[in-house]
Amino acid sequence: MPTVIFEPSHATAEFELGKLRYTDHGKRQSLLDIALNNEIHLEHACGGSCACTTCHVIVMEGAELLSEAEEDELDRLDMAPGLTLRSRLGCQAVVQKEGTVKVEIPAWNKNYISEGGGSTL
Ligand code: FES
Repeated sequence: MPTVIFEPSHATAEFELGKLRYTDHGKRQSLLDIALNNEIHLEHACGGSCACTTCHVIVMEGAELLSEAEEDELDRLDMAPGLTLRSRLGCQAVVQKEGTVKVEIPAWNKNYISEGGGSTL
């Protein structure tokens, strides 16, 4: 059973591959879909359509369990504040294998939103 841990809150989600209820946001079984299924807060200003950067996460562990980033995700990530080599968009990175994925939700994303930014769209 895959486990996804969202830092810094350490909120943890477990689910059965292929059995997650789809929340209509982002790709099925994406980090965003998993977060929403478990009432874990992950910003998603564009609704999960790869058109903003608010769902930016940094993968700390388990990157090999995730889908490969496609061209549109990489292009969008280029615009993300605080981009790292381990950055992904939560709505595009799909958990495909058993194991533990640990991601960090960058503080600057939350701050940006709560300060009324929102122009990352
Ligand atoms: S929610 Fe907008 S790109 Fe992921």
